[in-house]
Amino acid sequence: MSMLAAACKSTLISSLEPSRSTGSRSLPPAAIYNLRAMPTAIITGSGGLIGSESVQHFVQAGYDVIGLENNMRARFFGPGASTAHTTERLLSRYGDSFRSLEIDIRDRDGVERVFQDAGAGVELVIHTAAQPSHDWAASDPQTDFGVNANGTLNLLDATRRHAPDATFIFCSTNKVYGDLPNYLPLVELDERLELPSDHRYYGGIDTTMSIDASTHSLFGVSKAAADLLVQEYGRYFGMATVCFRGGCLTGPNHAGTMLHGFLSYLMRCTMTGERYTVFGYGGKQVRDNIHSADLVAAFEAFHRAPRSAAIYNIGGGRASNCSMLEAITACERIAGRELDWTLVDDNRIGDHRWWISDLEPFRRDYPDWNITYDVEAVLREIYEHNAELWLAAH
Ligand SMILES: NC(=O)c1ccc[n+]([C@@H]2O[C@H](COP(=O)([O-])OP(=O)(O)OC[C@H]3O[C@@H](n4cnc5c(N)ncnc54)[C@H](O)[C@@H]3O)[C@@H](O)[C@H]2O)c1
Repeated sequence: MSMLAAACKSTLISSLEPSRSTGSRSLPPAAIYNLRAMPTAIITGSGGLIGSESVQHFVQAGYDVIGLENNMRARFFGPGASTAHTTERLLSRYGDSFRSLEIDIRDRDGVERVFQDAGAGVELVIHTAAQPSHDWAASDPQTDFGVNANGTLNLLDATRRHAPDATFIFCSTNKVYGDLPNYLPLVELDERLELPSDHRYYGGIDTTMSIDASTHSLFGVSKAAADLLVQEYGRYFGMATVCFRGGCLTGPNHAGTMLHGFLSYLMRCTMTGERYTVFGYGGKQVRDNIHSADLVAAFEAFHRAPRSAAIYNIGGGRASNCSMLEAITACERIAGRELDWTLVDDNRIGDHRWWISDLEPFRRDYPDWNITYDVEAVLREIYEHNAELWLAAH
């Protein structure tokens, strides 16, 4: 490294020095970044819903972004779920500050090389790449575990060795709690299941819920393994790590498909006339839904004031949740046509009857953050953004 580059880097690092548990890291505006070395963010799954939102957000904040993306979503769910067009769009828009590397996160040497080349300039790692479906995991447990658990280990270890001061953000899932939420004393209302208002989890489930003694599905297990690894790299090695245990993550850039991407796929079926199947619980199962932009805003808030081994449940909370029946009604209203749907008795194994995340712990730690989209706003955006594309493709 030249002396000038070294001087730029040390200025940048000292101005961004994290204070692990209390202080905040001041992120200078993009204009100032440009006068110094650009900080680097590595984002896995950069063509996916959360990855692509993260690329856009952090490029605009002045980062040099390296994406790791092999379009495995198309292998999991078929060509209709491909994220290739999103990667192309990001490259054409942000090509000066964004590179997409076709790397499989299971490829330990490949991941290692990326971190080695990027070196200590890596300030932020956002790990979103995953096999994300319960049902798919049961069809190929080795691949599911390889991507979700071993892939995460490869990234953590490369970060530890080459960029130990980086913030490591992991997209975990509420499925780490397995089906324990299904044992809550839910009452059946006309359109949804609901907790009694005096129940301690009425405002949302927090991380005091056990992750033991429940059916997780193989997907839940591979994500729980990754979640524990992320926590351990925080505790054992003192790295700044966080697990965001997501409810339903959503937004207009989701490549929604039958096995993954609930609101996006539901709206797509409503618009195109494709038949939709609701699995179990009379359609009254409740999910909370967080827009990808709100989640990525939470990533940035965490990165400004990182902690070690943090865990948060994150979703739409009380502000943004719906049952299947309520979501169908909303889609039909927005799209102006009826959905062709059927209800089958059997639920998906490990699927939740009711999930609302308690957002208060995150809000307490990061008071400037909040949810800005409710379900109606998310669905409208999905509709407006995709109408032309989906109707043309059908
Ligand atoms: N979408 C949800 O409702 C939801 C809910 C809870 C948690 N999560 C978690 O959040 C994360 C992001 O979810 P999403 O909805 O953006 O997923 P997504 O499927 O839209 O994006 C993931 C991306 O990772 C890529 N990928 C998969 N395997 C890869 C590999 N081996 N190497 C490189 N790239 C690979 C895929 O091609 C895809 O583009 C995932 O970890 C998921 O488990 C999602």
